[in-house]
This record gives sequence, structure tokens and C-alpha cells, in this order.
Amino acid sequence: MKNDATQLLQKSQAYENNARISVPGYDTLFSMVQAYFRAQLGEQQASILIVGAGGGNELSAWGQSNSNWSFTGVDPSEEMLQIASYKAEQLQLESRVQLLLGTIDHLPSADTKFDAASCILVLHFIEEWQEKLALLQNIHGQLKPGKPFALVSAFGQRDSAELQDRIKIWQSFFLDVGYPQAKVKDMGKVIMNISFISDQQIEQLLKEAGFQHIARFFTSGLFAGWMCHA
Ligand SMILES: C[S@@+](CC[C@H](N)C(=O)[O-])C[C@H]1O[C@@H](n2cnc3c(N)ncnc32)[C@H](O)[C@@H]1O
Repeated sequence: MKNDATQLLQKSQAYENNARISVPGYDTLFSMVQAYFRAQLGEQQASILIVGAGGGNELSAWGQSNSNWSFTGVDPSEEMLQIASYKAEQLQLESRVQLLLGTIDHLPSADTKFDAASCILVLHFIEEWQEKLALLQNIHGQLKPGKPFALVSAFGQRDSAELQDRIKIWQSFFLDVGYPQAKVKDMGKVIMNISFISDQQIEQLLKEAGFQHIARFFTSGLFAGWMCHA
């Protein structure tokens, strides 16, 4: 499906608005990952792998402010990838951005590995433990040894009272900005379709995938972020 520029702009704004309601501190999260990558990578040229690049927010957060970075983004959603491509064009980043429709499994085999990788708000869409592990192992395999990785995901033990409490808070973010009660009630059911696992299980997955020095750097409502090294 082809979208014209006006549709892409509207979709991009709708996606960003929703993300900022859903994840308070969403923009700060990207600034923190940028600071982590900068601290690890210094001033050198660096290739960044973005897993789940749809929507293009990694590109708009990091593209212009890091002229030494080039980006390879993968995402299986054509619509989300079109938004990312639109942003890359608007920000005149095309010469440093390559976007591939598909998952990390569709990356062409290359002799050189990446200097850093991110996987932001993707892991909870992957159903099974083994699939989550395979994704993280693949990311690990695409990184040069010791290089930084940032993971952000929803977390929580399914059916726990603790998670239900956090879902109510998450719903209140949408009520506060005027979403109708009925819609927010439905969203409370829909959010349970994502694949929640606990924060300890996410850390276990990172370890099993081979990552080291795992540190949690971000928590906001339903979501948390970890930085680590390949
Ligand atoms: C909530 S969006 C997050 C996009 C972006 N990382 C951000 O933080 O704004 C989730 C994205 O993950 C993508 N996605 C789902 N499964 C994926 C997979 N196996 N590999 C890469 N991306 C995936 C979806 O298509 C969607 O574009």
C-alpha cells in the first residue's frame, strides 16, 4: 500500500502521539540510549542496527545529532517502514540510512558487524520464549564483540495483581488526554494480547543470548529498558 506525503505525516504524528502517551518519558528514553551509545562509541564512524525501525523515531532522535552514525533498520511492517523512510527523507538522512522490510533474519550476510544495536518496543510482540531468545541471539551475533545494545520492552508477570495495577495506570494516561472511557476499556483488553514476561525473565533472556554487563536504565509504567554489551 502506497501512502502520499500527507498521509505519512499524519500517520507519523499519530504514532508519535500514541507512543508519548503510552510511554511517559519516551523522548528521554531515546536521549538516554543516545548518551549510552555515544559514551561507548566516541567520535568514530559507527554502524547502528535498529531492530523494529518502523515509525522512524530512532532516526529522528539520533540521525541528525550524530553525523558519524549510519543506520540499518529492519521491520516487518510495510506501513511502519514507510513512515521511517518518510522521516529519513524529511531529515535528509537517506545517505546514512538503509531500511529493510523484514526481520533480522532477512539481513544480508555481511563481513562486517555492527557497532551498536537497539530493539525498542519490539520484544513484547514476539510470542514465544524461544523466538524472543532467537531474536536476541541474532542481535548478539550481528554485533562486534563488546559493543553496546539497548533493549526496551513491556514487562510484567501475566495475571499478577502488580501488572494489572500498572495497566490501570497506563489506561489513566489515555483518559487524562481525553480518550473515551469505552475505548480505554477496550485498550486494557487489547494490551493483554502482547507477550508479557517478567523483568527478571527479560534479564535471563539477555544473559542466555550472550549479553554482559546488563543494567536496567529506564522504567516507565508498563515498560523498561536495559543496556548491555555483546
Ligand atoms: C511499537 S513499534 C516500535 C517502533 C520503534 N522502535 C519505536 O520505538 O518507536 C513496534 C515495531 O516492531 C515491529 N516488529 C514486530 N515484530 C518484529 C520483529 N520480529 N523484528 C523487527 N521488528 C518487529 C513492528 O512492525 C513495529 O513497527
